Amino acid sequence: MDFDSLEGFLSHSQIRVEQYLNTAIGQRRASGVLSQAMAYSAVQGGKRVRAALMYGAARACGVDHAALDPLAAAVESMHAYSLIHDDLPAMDDDALRRGQPSCHVAFDEATAVLAGDALQALAFEFLASAQGPKISAEQCLAMVACLAQASGAKGMVAGQMLDMAAAHDAVNLAQLEHLHRLKTGALIVASVEIGALSQSHVSPKQIDNLRAYAQAIGLAFQVKDDILDIEGDTATLGKAQGSDLINDKSTYPALLGMTAAKARLMELHQQAKDAVAGFGAAAEPLVWLADFIVNRKH
Ligand code: IPE
Ligand code: IPE
Ligand code: MG
Ligand code: MG
Ligand code: MG
Repeated sequence: MDFDSLEGFLSHSQIRVEQYLNTAIGQRRASGVLSQAMAYSAVQGGKRVRAALMYGAARACGVDHAALDPLAAAVESMHAYSLIHDDLPAMDDDALRRGQPSCHVAFDEATAVLAGDALQALAFEFLASAQGPKISAEQCLAMVACLAQASGAKGMVAGQMLDMAAAHDAVNLAQLEHLHRLKTGALIVASVEIGALSQSHVSPKQIDNLRAYAQAIGLAFQVKDDILDIEGDTATLGKAQGSDLINDKSTYPALLGMTAAKARLMELHQQAKDAVAGFGAAAEPLVWLADFIVNRKH
């Protein structure tokens, strides 16, 4: 299937990953409260940017096929877990997520912790299940290693730890960039890398260029998130505007001021587009996604 705009590509990505998640998680709701909480946080809502980045990277390097759907579900499941835990009272203490009560508010804290834990494990189950005629066991193993490294103590969780430590404290720009690259960039880079790993003939140069794209857009994603915390509105965001201010978080606008934060965003946007210029039309969806990430209102 070919696309001529972001809207078509993004909605196709959303439909595919949500169908997969619904079959894997949503239809198990009847099995108990844990499954209900997992479905509540993972099946509906969300922009599905990480899924779309995975599909976009796969297309840039080769072919798109249905065997990619569990890979998209894996990165979105990991992301959903991170949001459930991020909203807990022990962390950002946010009561609204994706336009509805956060998981720990809709259920309770223990259930939210466990639903997050289960979604994290499920992400790896999804990756392992992708093995078949289109994706080899070796490719699956590389994806599992990639997602594990990006999500754990050298990636997203390390970033969340730094984010908590940096609240109320002054950090310098290099420290803030490092924090943002870990807490948000790492999973975005992994989403793109998993798309590339799903293809059997990808050159080291293609991988390098995609990684450069993802590193730029991964940092841009969090810079924009910081800006939206100030300039967005709760109804559009589907999460509480001003949460960073209340929690006295270290953010780009807090450190640099709004004008310089926006200039940095534009610089990263350009870097991302330059990195995939060599792919030509095959990388159009990745360029659209870069535009979306910096221009989005939610
Ligand atoms: C929010 O991510 C958390 C960050 C890493 C900034 P998204 O803005 O992608 O959240 P959803 O999935 O669309 O709800
Ligand atoms: C969240 O960053 C990053 C992760 C969940 C790993 P934020 O705390 O800024 O995300 P929001 O603003 O609550 O979505
Ligand atoms: Mg947070
Ligand atoms: Mg938060
Ligand atoms: Mg935020």
